[in-house]
Amino acid sequence: MKINGTPYRTIWPTSDNAAVEIIDQTRLPHVFATLRLDTMRDAERAIKDMQVRGAPLIGVTAAYGVALAMRELASDAALANACKVLLAARPTAVNLRWGVEKMRVLLAPLPEDERVAAAWKEAARIADEDVAINAAIGRHGSDIIRAIHQKKGGTVNVLTHCNAGWLATVDWGTALAPIYTAFDAGIPLHVWVDETRPRNQGASLTAWELGQHGVPHTVIVDNAGGHLMQHGMVDMAIVGCDRVTARGDVCNKIGTYLKALAAHDNGVPFYVALPTPTIDWTLQDGVKEIPIEERAAEEVTHIAGLCDDGQVRTVQVTPQGSRAANYGFDVTPARLVSGLITERGVVKADSGAMRVLK
Ligand code: MRU
Repeated sequence: MKINGTPYRTIWPTSDNAAVEIIDQTRLPHVFATLRLDTMRDAERAIKDMQVRGAPLIGVTAAYGVALAMRELASDAALANACKVLLAARPTAVNLRWGVEKMRVLLAPLPEDERVAAAWKEAARIADEDVAINAAIGRHGSDIIRAIHQKKGGTVNVLTHCNAGWLATVDWGTALAPIYTAFDAGIPLHVWVDETRPRNQGASLTAWELGQHGVPHTVIVDNAGGHLMQHGMVDMAIVGCDRVTARGDVCNKIGTYLKALAAHDNGVPFYVALPTPTIDWTLQDGVKEIPIEERAAEEVTHIAGLCDDGQVRTVQVTPQGSRAANYGFDVTPARLVSGLITERGVVKADSGAMRVLK
Protein backbone atom coordinates (compact mmCIF):
# COMPACT_ATOMS: atom_id res chain seq x y z
CA MET A 1 0.00 0.00 0.00
CA LYS A 2 1.10 3.56 -0.55
CA ILE A 3 1.82 6.19 2.06
CA ASN A 4 1.91 9.65 0.51
CA GLY A 5 2.53 7.96 -2.84
CA THR A 6 5.39 5.69 -1.65
CA PRO A 7 4.72 1.92 -1.61
CA TYR A 8 5.33 0.28 1.76
CA ARG A 9 5.00 -3.09 3.40
CA THR A 10 4.62 -3.26 7.18
CA ILE A 11 7.85 -5.24 7.62
CA TRP A 12 10.93 -5.68 5.47
CA PRO A 13 14.54 -6.87 5.90
CA THR A 14 17.42 -4.42 5.50
CA SER A 15 19.33 -4.92 2.27
CA ASP A 16 22.13 -6.86 4.03
CA ASN A 17 19.70 -9.11 5.97
CA ALA A 18 21.24 -7.79 9.19
CA ALA A 19 18.04 -6.37 10.65
CA VAL A 20 14.34 -5.88 10.02
CA GLU A 21 12.41 -2.65 9.70
CA ILE A 22 8.82 -2.13 10.72
CA ILE A 23 6.27 0.67 10.78
CA ASP A 24 5.84 1.60 14.45
CA GLN A 25 2.07 1.26 14.82
CA THR A 26 1.99 2.67 18.34
CA ARG A 27 2.74 6.12 16.86
CA LEU A 28 0.07 6.16 14.16
CA PRO A 29 -1.96 8.03 13.06
CA HIS A 30 -0.17 11.16 14.27
CA VAL A 31 3.41 10.15 13.53
CA PHE A 32 4.60 7.89 10.72
CA ALA A 33 7.88 6.36 11.90
CA THR A 34 9.81 3.22 11.05
CA LEU A 35 11.78 1.24 13.57
CA ARG A 36 14.76 -1.09 13.21
CA LEU A 37 14.73 -4.50 14.93
CA ASP A 38 18.29 -5.78 15.40
CA THR A 39 17.76 -8.75 17.69
CA MET A 40 15.26 -11.48 18.45
CA ARG A 41 14.46 -9.65 21.70
CA ASP A 42 13.64 -6.53 19.66
CA ALA A 43 11.16 -8.61 17.65
CA GLU A 44 9.67 -10.03 20.85
CA ARG A 45 9.26 -6.51 22.27
CA ALA A 46 7.71 -5.20 19.05
CA ILE A 47 5.05 -7.93 19.25
CA LYS A 48 4.44 -7.51 23.01
CA ASP A 49 4.22 -3.73 22.87
CA MET A 50 2.10 -3.86 19.71
CA GLN A 51 4.47 -1.86 17.54
CA VAL A 52 3.44 -4.64 15.19
CA ARG A 53 0.04 -6.26 15.70
CA GLY A 54 -2.62 -8.13 13.77
CA ALA A 55 -2.47 -11.91 13.54
CA PRO A 56 -0.69 -12.32 10.17
CA LEU A 57 1.88 -9.61 10.88
CA ILE A 58 2.61 -11.07 14.31
CA GLY A 59 3.33 -14.41 12.58
CA VAL A 60 5.68 -12.85 10.03
CA THR A 61 7.47 -10.76 12.68
CA ALA A 62 8.02 -13.90 14.73
CA ALA A 63 9.50 -15.63 11.66
CA TYR A 64 11.92 -12.73 11.20
CA GLY A 65 12.57 -12.88 14.96
CA VAL A 66 13.85 -16.44 14.53
CA ALA A 67 16.05 -15.24 11.64
CA LEU A 68 17.45 -12.49 13.85
CA ALA A 69 18.18 -15.06 16.57
CA MET A 70 20.06 -17.22 14.05
CA ARG A 71 22.26 -14.26 13.14
CA GLU A 72 23.23 -13.97 16.79
CA LEU A 73 23.84 -17.71 17.31
CA ALA A 74 22.66 -20.59 15.12
CA SER A 75 22.92 -23.43 17.67
CA ASP A 76 20.11 -25.88 18.53
CA ALA A 77 19.76 -24.24 21.95
CA ALA A 78 19.49 -20.76 20.41
CA LEU A 79 16.83 -21.97 17.99
CA ALA A 80 14.81 -23.62 20.76
CA ASN A 81 15.12 -20.54 22.96
CA ALA A 82 14.05 -18.14 20.17
CA CYS A 83 10.98 -20.26 19.42
CA LYS A 84 10.05 -20.38 23.12
CA VAL A 85 10.50 -16.65 23.71
CA LEU A 86 8.63 -15.57 20.57
CA LEU A 87 5.76 -18.02 21.15
CA ALA A 88 5.14 -16.45 24.56
CA ALA A 89 5.01 -12.87 23.22
CA ARG A 90 1.23 -12.82 22.66
CA PRO A 91 -1.15 -15.74 23.27
CA THR A 92 -4.18 -15.41 21.01
CA ALA A 93 -3.14 -15.22 17.35
CA VAL A 94 -2.44 -18.73 16.12
CA ASN A 95 -0.39 -17.27 13.25
CA LEU A 96 2.40 -16.68 15.77
CA ARG A 97 2.66 -20.41 16.46
CA TRP A 98 2.33 -21.12 12.74
CA GLY A 99 5.18 -18.74 11.77
CA VAL A 100 7.51 -19.98 14.51
CA GLU A 101 6.77 -23.65 13.74
CA LYS A 102 7.47 -23.14 10.01
CA MET A 103 10.89 -21.76 10.93
CA ARG A 104 11.67 -24.45 13.50
CA VAL A 105 10.72 -27.34 11.20
CA LEU A 106 12.85 -25.93 8.37
CA LEU A 107 15.89 -24.98 10.44
CA ALA A 108 16.18 -27.75 13.02
CA PRO A 109 17.47 -30.45 10.59
CA LEU A 110 19.97 -28.08 8.91
CA PRO A 111 23.65 -27.80 9.86
CA GLU A 112 24.34 -24.65 11.88
CA ASP A 113 26.30 -22.93 9.10
CA GLU A 114 23.31 -23.12 6.76
CA ARG A 115 20.72 -21.83 9.19
CA VAL A 116 21.19 -18.08 8.85
CA ALA A 117 20.73 -17.93 5.08
CA ALA A 118 17.86 -20.42 5.18
CA ALA A 119 16.10 -18.48 7.97
CA TRP A 120 16.13 -15.16 6.11
CA LYS A 121 14.96 -16.83 2.92
CA GLU A 122 12.08 -18.60 4.68
CA ALA A 123 10.96 -15.49 6.58
CA ALA A 124 10.90 -13.54 3.31
CA ARG A 125 8.95 -16.35 1.66
CA ILE A 126 6.37 -16.33 4.48
CA ALA A 127 6.02 -12.56 4.09
CA ASP A 128 5.51 -12.83 0.32
CA GLU A 129 3.02 -15.64 0.83
CA ASP A 130 1.00 -13.44 3.18
CA VAL A 131 0.77 -10.75 0.51
CA ALA A 132 -0.43 -13.24 -2.13
CA ILE A 133 -2.97 -14.77 0.27
CA ASN A 134 -4.43 -11.40 1.16
CA ALA A 135 -4.71 -10.32 -2.46
CA ALA A 136 -6.73 -13.51 -3.09
CA ILE A 137 -8.94 -12.78 -0.06
CA GLY A 138 -9.51 -9.36 -1.60
CA ARG A 139 -10.68 -10.87 -4.88
CA HIS A 140 -13.10 -13.34 -3.25
CA GLY A 141 -14.45 -10.82 -0.77
CA SER A 142 -14.96 -8.11 -3.38
CA ASP A 143 -17.31 -10.45 -5.26
CA ILE A 144 -19.61 -10.32 -2.22
CA ILE A 145 -19.46 -6.53 -2.12
CA ARG A 146 -20.13 -6.37 -5.87
CA ALA A 147 -23.16 -8.66 -5.52
CA ILE A 148 -24.60 -6.44 -2.77
CA HIS A 149 -23.98 -3.37 -4.93
CA GLN A 150 -25.72 -4.96 -7.91
CA LYS A 151 -28.71 -5.93 -5.81
CA LYS A 152 -28.96 -2.65 -3.95
CA GLY A 153 -27.87 -0.27 -6.69
CA GLY A 154 -26.14 2.32 -4.49
CA THR A 155 -23.25 2.76 -2.10
CA VAL A 156 -22.42 -0.36 -0.09
CA ASN A 157 -22.00 0.38 3.63
CA VAL A 158 -19.53 -2.00 5.27
CA LEU A 159 -18.88 -2.12 9.00
CA THR A 160 -15.53 -3.30 10.32
CA HIS A 161 -14.06 -3.72 13.79
CA CYS A 162 -10.47 -3.23 14.94
CA ASN A 163 -7.82 -3.11 12.25
CA ALA A 164 -7.59 -6.02 9.87
CA GLY A 165 -6.15 -3.90 7.10
CA TRP A 166 -2.72 -3.85 5.52
CA LEU A 167 -1.19 -2.69 8.79
CA ALA A 168 -2.28 -5.97 10.39
CA THR A 169 -0.64 -8.04 7.65
CA VAL A 170 2.37 -7.59 5.38
CA ASP A 171 0.20 -5.91 2.75
CA TRP A 172 -3.45 -5.63 1.65
CA GLY A 173 -5.00 -6.79 4.93
CA THR A 174 -7.67 -9.42 5.41
CA ALA A 175 -11.00 -7.72 6.20
CA LEU A 176 -9.96 -4.57 4.33
CA ALA A 177 -8.57 -6.40 1.26
CA PRO A 178 -12.08 -6.92 -0.22
CA ILE A 179 -12.81 -3.25 0.49
CA TYR A 180 -9.66 -2.03 -1.30
CA THR A 181 -10.26 -4.42 -4.21
CA ALA A 182 -13.90 -3.36 -4.60
CA PHE A 183 -13.01 0.32 -4.23
CA ASP A 184 -10.24 0.05 -6.85
CA ALA A 185 -12.76 -1.64 -9.17
CA GLY A 186 -15.02 1.41 -8.90
CA ILE A 187 -17.74 -0.04 -6.65
CA PRO A 188 -19.14 2.81 -4.51
CA LEU A 189 -18.66 1.99 -0.86
CA HIS A 190 -18.41 3.55 2.56
CA VAL A 191 -16.91 2.01 5.68
CA TRP A 192 -18.20 2.34 9.25
CA VAL A 193 -15.07 2.09 11.38
CA ASP A 194 -15.54 0.92 14.99
CA GLU A 195 -13.12 2.92 17.13
CA THR A 196 -12.19 -0.33 18.99
CA ARG A 197 -11.44 0.62 22.56
CA PRO A 198 -9.25 0.31 24.46
CA ARG A 199 -6.36 0.70 21.99
CA ASN A 200 -8.43 2.30 19.25
CA GLN A 201 -7.03 0.29 16.37
CA GLY A 202 -10.10 1.29 14.34
CA ALA A 203 -9.97 5.01 15.06
CA SER A 204 -6.23 5.33 14.68
CA LEU A 205 -5.16 2.60 12.23
CA THR A 206 -8.15 1.59 10.08
CA ALA A 207 -9.26 5.19 9.62
CA TRP A 208 -5.68 6.19 8.72
CA GLU A 209 -5.25 3.40 6.17
CA LEU A 210 -8.60 4.01 4.53
CA GLY A 211 -7.84 7.72 4.39
CA GLN A 212 -4.46 7.07 2.75
CA HIS A 213 -6.22 5.01 0.09
CA GLY A 214 -9.05 7.51 -0.36
CA VAL A 215 -11.81 5.15 0.80
CA PRO A 216 -14.84 7.04 2.26
CA HIS A 217 -15.24 6.12 5.91
CA THR A 218 -16.77 7.28 9.19
CA VAL A 219 -15.44 6.46 12.65
CA ILE A 220 -18.10 5.42 15.16
CA VAL A 221 -18.01 4.54 18.84
CA ASP A 222 -18.01 0.83 19.46
CA ASN A 223 -21.60 0.81 20.68
CA ALA A 224 -23.07 2.49 17.57
CA GLY A 225 -23.11 -0.56 15.28
CA GLY A 226 -26.37 -2.04 16.57
CA HIS A 227 -28.19 1.25 16.11
CA LEU A 228 -26.90 1.63 12.55
CA MET A 229 -27.95 -1.90 11.70
CA GLN A 230 -31.46 -1.35 13.08
CA HIS A 231 -31.81 1.61 10.73
CA GLY A 232 -30.64 -0.20 7.58
CA MET A 233 -27.37 1.72 7.47
CA VAL A 234 -25.09 -1.33 7.31
CA ASP A 235 -25.19 -3.70 4.31
CA MET A 236 -22.56 -6.10 5.59
CA ALA A 237 -19.90 -6.48 8.25
CA ILE A 238 -16.40 -7.82 7.58
CA VAL A 239 -13.94 -8.46 10.37
CA GLY A 240 -10.60 -10.20 10.66
CA CYS A 241 -9.68 -12.86 13.21
CA ASP A 242 -6.85 -14.14 15.34
CA ARG A 243 -7.89 -17.76 15.44
CA VAL A 244 -10.70 -19.82 13.92
CA THR A 245 -11.48 -23.28 15.24
CA ALA A 246 -12.05 -26.37 13.09
CA ARG A 247 -15.81 -25.91 13.48
CA GLY A 248 -15.74 -22.20 12.57
CA ASP A 249 -15.82 -20.36 15.91
CA VAL A 250 -14.03 -17.05 15.43
CA CYS A 251 -11.76 -15.32 17.92
CA ASN A 252 -11.22 -11.64 17.19
CA LYS A 253 -10.78 -8.30 18.92
CA ILE A 254 -13.00 -7.74 21.96
CA GLY A 255 -16.42 -6.49 20.85
CA THR A 256 -16.62 -8.58 17.68
CA TYR A 257 -19.12 -10.95 19.30
CA LEU A 258 -21.53 -8.12 20.13
CA LYS A 259 -21.39 -6.90 16.52
CA ALA A 260 -22.13 -10.40 15.29
CA LEU A 261 -25.13 -10.64 17.62
CA ALA A 262 -26.47 -7.31 16.39
CA ALA A 263 -25.88 -8.34 12.76
CA HIS A 264 -27.73 -11.61 13.33
CA ASP A 265 -30.68 -9.84 14.94
CA ASN A 266 -30.93 -7.42 12.03
CA GLY A 267 -30.30 -9.82 9.13
CA VAL A 268 -26.99 -8.12 8.23
CA PRO A 269 -24.46 -10.54 6.66
CA PHE A 270 -21.46 -10.95 8.96
CA TYR A 271 -18.29 -12.14 7.22
CA VAL A 272 -14.91 -13.06 8.63
CA ALA A 273 -11.84 -12.71 6.41
CA LEU A 274 -8.86 -14.92 7.14
CA PRO A 275 -5.79 -16.53 5.67
CA THR A 276 -6.03 -20.31 6.19
CA PRO A 277 -3.00 -20.30 8.57
CA THR A 278 -5.38 -18.57 11.04
CA ILE A 279 -7.37 -21.80 11.37
CA ASP A 280 -6.40 -23.81 14.44
CA TRP A 281 -7.37 -27.33 13.41
CA THR A 282 -6.59 -28.62 16.92
CA LEU A 283 -9.53 -26.74 18.49
CA GLN A 284 -13.34 -27.07 18.25
CA ASP A 285 -15.07 -24.97 20.92
CA GLY A 286 -13.58 -21.50 20.69
CA VAL A 287 -15.20 -20.15 23.87
CA LYS A 288 -13.85 -22.98 25.99
CA GLU A 289 -10.53 -23.60 24.30
CA ILE A 290 -8.99 -20.35 23.01
CA PRO A 291 -6.75 -18.52 25.49
CA ILE A 292 -7.75 -14.86 25.67
CA GLU A 293 -5.04 -12.28 26.16
CA GLU A 294 -5.48 -9.98 29.16
CA ARG A 295 -3.51 -6.80 28.83
CA ALA A 296 -2.53 -3.98 31.17
CA ALA A 297 -5.34 -2.08 32.94
CA GLU A 298 -3.70 1.20 31.85
CA GLU A 299 -4.93 0.59 28.30
CA VAL A 300 -8.48 1.02 29.69
CA THR A 301 -7.88 3.68 32.31
CA HIS A 302 -5.80 5.92 30.05
CA ILE A 303 -6.08 7.19 26.51
CA ALA A 304 -3.57 8.91 24.21
CA GLY A 305 -4.28 11.61 21.65
CA LEU A 306 -3.06 14.65 19.81
CA CYS A 307 -3.19 17.87 21.82
CA ASP A 308 -3.71 21.37 20.43
CA ASP A 309 0.02 22.10 20.79
CA GLY A 310 0.81 19.25 18.38
CA GLN A 311 2.09 16.89 21.10
CA VAL A 312 0.72 13.38 21.63
CA ARG A 313 -0.14 12.94 25.32
CA THR A 314 -1.74 10.30 27.48
CA VAL A 315 -4.52 11.21 29.92
CA GLN A 316 -6.46 9.26 32.53
CA VAL A 317 -10.19 8.78 31.90
CA THR A 318 -11.20 6.80 35.01
CA PRO A 319 -11.29 7.87 38.65
CA GLN A 320 -8.19 7.24 40.67
CA GLY A 321 -8.49 3.84 42.31
CA SER A 322 -11.14 2.28 39.99
CA ARG A 323 -10.05 -1.13 38.82
CA ALA A 324 -10.12 -1.97 35.14
CA ALA A 325 -10.17 -5.31 33.30
CA ASN A 326 -8.73 -5.58 29.82
CA TYR A 327 -9.74 -8.67 27.86
CA GLY A 328 -8.23 -8.36 24.40
CA PHE A 329 -10.41 -10.77 22.41
CA ASP A 330 -13.74 -12.58 22.36
CA VAL A 331 -15.18 -15.54 20.51
CA THR A 332 -18.05 -15.38 18.03
CA PRO A 333 -19.78 -18.75 17.65
CA ALA A 334 -19.85 -20.15 14.10
CA ARG A 335 -23.66 -19.91 13.96
CA LEU A 336 -23.39 -16.09 13.83
CA VAL A 337 -20.93 -16.08 10.92
CA SER A 338 -22.34 -15.80 7.37
CA GLY A 339 -19.14 -17.00 5.73
CA LEU A 340 -15.36 -17.25 5.98
CA ILE A 341 -13.59 -15.32 3.22
CA THR A 342 -10.31 -17.16 2.62
CA GLU A 343 -7.66 -17.14 -0.09
CA ARG A 344 -9.30 -20.30 -1.44
CA GLY A 345 -12.79 -18.87 -1.64
CA VAL A 346 -15.76 -18.20 0.62
CA VAL A 347 -16.65 -21.12 2.85
CA LYS A 348 -19.41 -21.75 5.39
CA ALA A 349 -18.27 -21.62 9.01
CA ASP A 350 -18.82 -25.28 9.86
CA SER A 351 -16.56 -28.26 10.17
CA GLY A 352 -17.97 -30.05 7.10
CA ALA A 353 -17.56 -27.11 4.72
CA MET A 354 -14.21 -26.11 6.20
CA ARG A 355 -12.66 -29.50 5.44
CA VAL A 356 -11.81 -28.27 1.90
CA LEU A 357 -9.43 -25.76 3.51
CA LYS A 358 -7.29 -28.40 5.26
O1 MRU B 1 -4.69 -6.72 19.33
P1 MRU B 1 -4.50 -6.62 17.85
O2 MRU B 1 -4.49 -5.23 17.33
O3 MRU B 1 -3.33 -7.44 17.38
O4 MRU B 1 -5.82 -7.31 17.29
C1 MRU B 1 -5.98 -7.44 15.91
C2 MRU B 1 -7.27 -8.05 15.53
O5 MRU B 1 -8.10 -8.38 16.34
C3 MRU B 1 -7.46 -8.31 14.07
O6 MRU B 1 -8.80 -8.23 13.71
C4 MRU B 1 -6.93 -9.70 13.74
O7 MRU B 1 -5.64 -9.89 14.24
C5 MRU B 1 -6.93 -9.93 12.29
S1 MRU B 1 -5.68 -9.02 11.48
C6 MRU B 1 -5.72 -9.32 9.84
